[in-house]
Amino acid sequence: MYLGVDYYPEHWDADMLEEDLQRISDMGANIIRVGEFAWHLMEKTEGEFEFSFFDHVVEKAKSHGLKVLFGTPTTTFPAWLAAKHPSILSKDAYGHIRGFGGRRQYCFNSDTYRVYASRIVRELVNHYRDEEALVAWQIDNELGHEGSDICYCEQCHAAFQAFLRTEYGSIEKLNEIYGTIFWGQTYNTFEEIPLPQPTITVHNPSLRLDWSRFRSFSVNSFALQQIQLVRMYKGGHQQITHNIPGGFFEKAHDPSAMAEALDFVSYDNYPVWGGLREPIAPAHIAMTHDFIRGLQGRNYWIVEELMGAQGHNVIGYLPRPGQAKMWAYQAMAHGCESMLFFRWRGMTRGAEQFCLGIIDQDNEDGRKYHEVRAFMQDIRKHGEVLKSEIKPDIAVLYDFDNIWSWQHQQQSQEFDFTRELLRLYTPFYKLNAQIDVISTGKDFSRYKVLVVPVLQIIDPALADRFKAFARQGGTIVFSFRAGIKDRHNNLNFRQTPPCCIRDIAGIAVRDAESLQERQCVKLKGIGKAEGLEGSCGVWRDLADLETASALYLYDEPFYKDKACVTVNTYGKGRVYYIGGGVDSSIMDTIAREIAAEGQIRHIEAPEGLEVYMRSTGGEEWLFINNHTGSEKAFGENVVEPYGSLLVKWKGLN
Ligand code: GLA
Ligand code: ZN
Repeated sequence: MYLGVDYYPEHWDADMLEEDLQRISDMGANIIRVGEFAWHLMEKTEGEFEFSFFDHVVEKAKSHGLKVLFGTPTTTFPAWLAAKHPSILSKDAYGHIRGFGGRRQYCFNSDTYRVYASRIVRELVNHYRDEEALVAWQIDNELGHEGSDICYCEQCHAAFQAFLRTEYGSIEKLNEIYGTIFWGQTYNTFEEIPLPQPTITVHNPSLRLDWSRFRSFSVNSFALQQIQLVRMYKGGHQQITHNIPGGFFEKAHDPSAMAEALDFVSYDNYPVWGGLREPIAPAHIAMTHDFIRGLQGRNYWIVEELMGAQGHNVIGYLPRPGQAKMWAYQAMAHGCESMLFFRWRGMTRGAEQFCLGIIDQDNEDGRKYHEVRAFMQDIRKHGEVLKSEIKPDIAVLYDFDNIWSWQHQQQSQEFDFTRELLRLYTPFYKLNAQIDVISTGKDFSRYKVLVVPVLQIIDPALADRFKAFARQGGTIVFSFRAGIKDRHNNLNFRQTPPCCIRDIAGIAVRDAESLQERQCVKLKGIGKAEGLEGSCGVWRDLADLETASALYLYDEPFYKDKACVTVNTYGKGRVYYIGGGVDSSIMDTIAREIAAEGQIRHIEAPEGLEVYMRSTGGEEWLFINNHTGSEKAFGENVVEPYGSLLVKWKGLN
């Protein structure tokens, strides 16, 4: 197991190196990450490669028993390169150049950039291929993050048109599929196709979806090229990774293709960033781990684990004593098997003065240092637990075509994809059940329960897989707008929603309504939910029952016969349909019922206490994490505010 820190020795006086490394290893670390962002240090002028700075760092690290994760430096190119070749710079939606000065401002489709990036990477990797202490390469840094997934430059425009030509073959076919007859947008040639830059009203939905696919393709093609290059030159003992940033569902980057090419996936875990008044919800943090683990279907690394408050110009919530350490335990519970904390010491100069580290400007071993030290010393004892496989019975499914489709057409002002995913994820999380968050492209046949939030794009092949799953006894939970669209982002014609899955859901949705801020409609339980009440916001599908039974009807005279929540029996399985943004009490009841019926392993614990079970060698271990500011008890275990425990389970009595 690797435990370590992100260390930037180039930021500090040379005579601090020895002392820093000593302190880092005294803390319990056995690895440091270096190199990312240091392109200029390795190629001060074009073609003059120089690695002596890092040679020295690596030698010193070794003498302190530290291994090295080396980041290739392509996120931040040198100023001379931008001055010589301004075409490498990306452009924003208005065509303005993103100037030198920040980071990640290169265009993924710049051939010139690829030439220079490939050259430094080749030189660097080749230089350290025989270095035993260098155990892994991280390509670039957080590809596509901070808006860098989008570029509207001429190179991207030409590449987009070429992408569409490959995709459609003929312009007639594209016109037909896009429906460019609408508003007279018919193109005579691929060269006429615009980028979806600001216009009056909105762009064609099929064009928008293809643009997102193209952006994702651009990021992945750069990533895959870099991975291939590192693979060609690296030593046999060295592995390749990339640090995926949070906020997955807001981006135009589906990291799946890249993830498959990596030796292991890494994640940068920041439960609070910028001006947030409080951290993202515990379930949300958990979901991000389950998403990352789902990319390769196995355990992963975290190469940036937050310790102090973070932000560029604005910072917010200060993690309470113990809380960042608890997030580290939470990550390990969910499948992280090696962890590096960001960063050894907060930097007093440069853009990240307020991205605090394990130690800060006073350079003293303070509270955070002691938290990391305690964490490293404890977690190191549990290698076997951390290696154990996580095999949930429940999968929450996402599909980037669908996510992008929602990004472009929100339909309700209140709609947010992540929130809708969490609406269905959270009730199972609260039961402390294990959950995978995976793409619809993965084989989901082995699960017992599929949770499918707001999947408005469903094609017949996917629908067939859902049918087979339900027929064989699986439970599926769909939510509103399911199946209204096809893969081209067009509404399905001559079908009634939920198109393609109408028979398995056993309902027809002929009317639907977008609900606005503070607009909440009342629901009344019926059948199995008789006597219960609830509410729904964001959206409502008005469902007519076909073979399904209603669980909640709209509690109003006008639509009293229309259902919001239904359940249908299909083959040996059951299909729930959640026709709106229903409140948590409804989802909690449904999740509990599904867990009981499907014999899904779960653990009842007090609210705010996350209990995650890992099994190894016939033993069961519990990660008990207190996400609240008050003491909580679980069995005989008392967990202090924001505390965390990793204990062998003796059972509840
Ligand atoms: C990101 C980056 C780091 C740094 C941190 C600050 O995750 O990878 O370089 O900017 O955020 O929180
Ligand atoms: Zn570009």
